Amino acid sequence: MAQAQTVLVIDFGGQYNQLIARRVREHNVYCEVISYKTPISQIRAINPKGIIFTGGPKSVYLDDSPRMDKEIFELGVPILGICYGAQFLVYGLGGEIGAASAEAAAEFGRTDCEFDTTAPIFKGLKKKSVVWMSHNDYIKKLPDGFKAIAHSAKCPFGAIENSAKKFYGTQFHPEVNHTEQGFDMLGNFLFNVCGCKRDWTMESYAETATKQLREKIGDGKALLALSGGVDSSVACKLLANAIGSQLTCIFVDHGLMRKNEGDEVEAAFAGSGVNFVRVNAGERFLSKLKGVVEPEQKRKIIGEEFIRVFEQEAKKIGKVDYLVQGTIYPDVIESGLGDADVIKSHHNVGGLPAYVDFKEIVEPLRLLFKDEVRALGAALGLSDKLVWRQPFPGPGLAIRIIGEITPDKVKVLQDADAIFREEIANAKLDRDINQYFAVLTNMRSVGVMGDGRTYDYTLALRGVTTTDFMTADFSRIPYDVLEKVSNRIVNEVKHINRIVYDITSKPPATIEWE
Ligand code: XMP
Repeated sequence: MAQAQTVLVIDFGGQYNQLIARRVREHNVYCEVISYKTPISQIRAINPKGIIFTGGPKSVYLDDSPRMDKEIFELGVPILGICYGAQFLVYGLGGEIGAASAEAAAEFGRTDCEFDTTAPIFKGLKKKSVVWMSHNDYIKKLPDGFKAIAHSAKCPFGAIENSAKKFYGTQFHPEVNHTEQGFDMLGNFLFNVCGCKRDWTMESYAETATKQLREKIGDGKALLALSGGVDSSVACKLLANAIGSQLTCIFVDHGLMRKNEGDEVEAAFAGSGVNFVRVNAGERFLSKLKGVVEPEQKRKIIGEEFIRVFEQEAKKIGKVDYLVQGTIYPDVIESGLGDADVIKSHHNVGGLPAYVDFKEIVEPLRLLFKDEVRALGAALGLSDKLVWRQPFPGPGLAIRIIGEITPDKVKVLQDADAIFREEIANAKLDRDINQYFAVLTNMRSVGVMGDGRTYDYTLALRGVTTTDFMTADFSRIPYDVLEKVSNRIVNEVKHINRIVYDITSKPPATIEWE
């Protein structure tokens, strides 16, 4: 979707590239991440308000280091180079870069820095604060027209400026939180240097996207696999507003959702003008899973069955023109630019069935970060429950019931998990803990209730804090909250007589138990 004003983040392979783009968008300015290999003609056609060069792992003098055509400096567009980006700016304009190993100017981590606050990017900031440095090479000699506007003890050119051309460079990383005034520096670049307006909001996105979807789809038919997760729910709401009954969403309820979740999804979408199909396939899934204890086998059976059910329903609808997918921007960046390592651990159940007959894929969220998807959901009036839904694995409770899955065990786990979630919400921890759930172990132990002996299941509670779900730390849930959860579960849920809290991080454990 074209946006009137765009800032381009040019990816030189640094670790924080997505973060830079997110920070720019947090200032309500639209930006896109593109590869340094993008032809200049394409950049010119976008007509950006500003350009940001990211960091990168290489030294500018290496033969295979990422470089752009020097024409990039002749577009008349303000540039901010960050770390490698600043070095590339200097190198490209005829300055000199030194290898820090030789002259001991490398800096890593928090560093005190002093700024020239008369420079537009430091306007209104404190003169001294901490910045995050992470560089081996350093700027040795500035190109003509540049001057230093920040320095640290080791680094005379902590930040540089060519005010006539509106070119800036920072040796540090303004996008990371460790750089105390970094967010404001980026804002100063966007507003004081590039003259951007704050016109990127999810309200305006909803309006423009709805219009564009209407134009694109016309009177065609669209199909969406709705899982009840944030992305597919928001995509559904957006499409529902745009094309109403031309959209059909199929929600395959595999009977392994959390307590009441299937009904919540139905309540949010049925009657909202779209054709909403809920397939209650719980029995079908459970019969396939009968006797299965091996986690990977559970996953495989559920994944396959999901596609079969979806396919059956899709066939009833006949030919559709568009298949809607909830792809979001991090997926696009990771798969599209090819300069960062791709690490993906799981596929969502309900990946593309090969046999659904459609003409084109529509991805209405492909430009949005997760927090923007949530904000869009809220702007479209989706309930907090759906907007703030924590990640839930495609195979659902099947991989939170250790060993064989039976309808009784599903019910026990649903009830226990609901109590845990309720108490976490009561303690107002639900937005701090990134994922939390109960696991029904396959272990039974002796207990005493009233005057009687019990021999029942052990339930495990899991809560983690994480940003990327690739690594995670166990959450320090206060003991009084855990105590309340434990008391309630053993009293209210039959067949659980012991509760443990999982205190392993990932690695070495994983977040899910299976
Ligand atoms: P692990 O257990 O690998 O989980 O540490 C990392 C994140 O992925 C989710 N997860 C899955 N998601 N299908 C999914 O769609 C799966 O098979 C699956 N297994 C784990 C998990 O909930 C956590 O957020």
